[in-house]
Amino acid sequence: MNNLVIAIDGPAGAGKSTIAKIIADKLNINYIDTGAMYRAVTLKCLQNKVNIENEDEVIELTKKTEIDFKDNNIYLDGKVVNEEIRTIEVTNNVSNVAKIKEVRCLMVDVQREIGTRNSVILDGRDIGSYVFPNADYKFFLIATPEERGARRYKELIAKGVEVKLQDVIDDIIKRDEIDSSREFAPLVKAEDAIEIDTTGKSIDDVVESVLNKIK
Ligand code: DC
Repeated sequence: MNNLVIAIDGPAGAGKSTIAKIIADKLNINYIDTGAMYRAVTLKCLQNKVNIENEDEVIELTKKTEIDFKDNNIYLDGKVVNEEIRTIEVTNNVSNVAKIKEVRCLMVDVQREIGTRNSVILDGRDIGSYVFPNADYKFFLIATPEERGARRYKELIAKGVEVKLQDVIDDIIKRDEIDSSREFAPLVKAEDAIEIDTTGKSIDDVVESVLNKIK
């Protein structure tokens, strides 16, 4: 039987990773958080004091980088970096790393390789439109910026990070603008993706909508 590929795309904070993890568990397939890969490259740039504006330096470093997923952990050059990739510093820089074509191509090679090994659900921005244009199922999750910002704000406050709600909303809007306007493989809804507006919906509701389409 062919491997199943499910793509979950959408803007920041639309609920993609929460939903994708639950669907992966229910269908007993692998989950790949492709945003985590761009975050890992960004973390490495920051650790190595690489100027993110200098694309050549970022590309050179990315070529010397190994990213892998095992047992729900993300490995950067053999080290688990689940927490380190979620800092505000990484979040504020990741869109500028993710807009570099060569960086994307290197990440997409890894994503496609993983997708041909096993059945998989991937969440990201360009999975249905670029990485797996022939995915078996494509979903595009959206929600208002206010709701997406409020979700991220709650997560940050729960972690003890001091932030203002309006700043979180503004950062999300800024990140979406960079992700949508980049030249290569931007954030876009694939023509054949099923759009789900998660505004005001519970996680269970969204999971049910997705599973109904898959069954
Ligand atoms: O989903 P996230 O917030 O962890 O994603 C981090 C950044 O990576 C986000 O600004 C967009 C970018 N990204 C991307 O360009 N393509 C993907 N497939 C996944 C994420």
